[in-house]
Amino acid sequence: MKRKPTRFDLQKMKENQEKVVWLTAYDYPTAEFAEQSGAEMILVGDSLGMCVYGYDGTVPVTMDQCLMHCEAVRRAAPNTFIVGDMPFLSYQVSVEDAVLNAGRFYKEAAVDAIKLEGGKRVCPQIRAISDGGMLVIGHIGLTPQSSGQLGGFKAQGRTAETAMALIEDAYAIQEAGAFALLVEAVPPEVMKIITEGLDIPVYSIGAGIHADGQLMICSDVLGIFQAFTPKFVKKYAALGAEIRKAFEAYGEEVRAGQFPADEHTYKMVEGELPKLLDCLKK
Ligand code: KIV
Repeated sequence: MKRKPTRFDLQKMKENQEKVVWLTAYDYPTAEFAEQSGAEMILVGDSLGMCVYGYDGTVPVTMDQCLMHCEAVRRAAPNTFIVGDMPFLSYQVSVEDAVLNAGRFYKEAAVDAIKLEGGKRVCPQIRAISDGGMLVIGHIGLTPQSSGQLGGFKAQGRTAETAMALIEDAYAIQEAGAFALLVEAVPPEVMKIITEGLDIPVYSIGAGIHADGQLMICSDVLGIFQAFTPKFVKKYAALGAEIRKAFEAYGEEVRAGQFPADEHTYKMVEGELPKLLDCLKK
């Protein structure tokens, strides 16, 4: 049975140039499959707003939703490093809110770390959560909670000036006490500078190969998210089509009176039917 990695195992993997496999999961069965696959980490991302609840983005997602999904994932994957994702407005308003809400992930869902979005502007929160004895992962580049400010779900750091700002954010996050960093939708050249420059592990989602590990959204990997497909996504299965086929086949058999067949029904205890029929006659 695999052992749950610690932050020191993840750090050692960076030093040994071993890639970390990181997936999102939002529910018990998916998390169980992720653990069985040997992934080191699971993010219970606020992308659950889009992948589970059908919102247009992550802004409406609440703490209670994130905590419920984290609890289910924790139960399914006791030997995987679970990261809770702090939803919009759970850490932006004050440092005190940030520590209390990060603490809820630990106390109510037994996560191993929390992740929050933003660069220098959230460093006071990263410092305070980390001083509270919790593990923090920073998240820069395309930060979906501020996609309005970014002008949509767009790649970041494509000019020297914006790349420089990202690099400065990355160093500031490390300095503030984060134990790892996630970089989203950034050109690989910029990612290489960040991964090689920082001492802490730097993970990529849509930021190319020069990273200490890769994160992907489970619904994209499985081919079940239909609203849109970002350029960086590779679908490793077409489960959406398989699920639709299964539902259609079920529907056809119900309509044709072919389901349920005899083998899907329970038998009465031997000799009980005649007794029942007698009772009904009286
Ligand atoms: O919520 C999430 O799944 C994320 C990824 C998009 C990085 O934050």
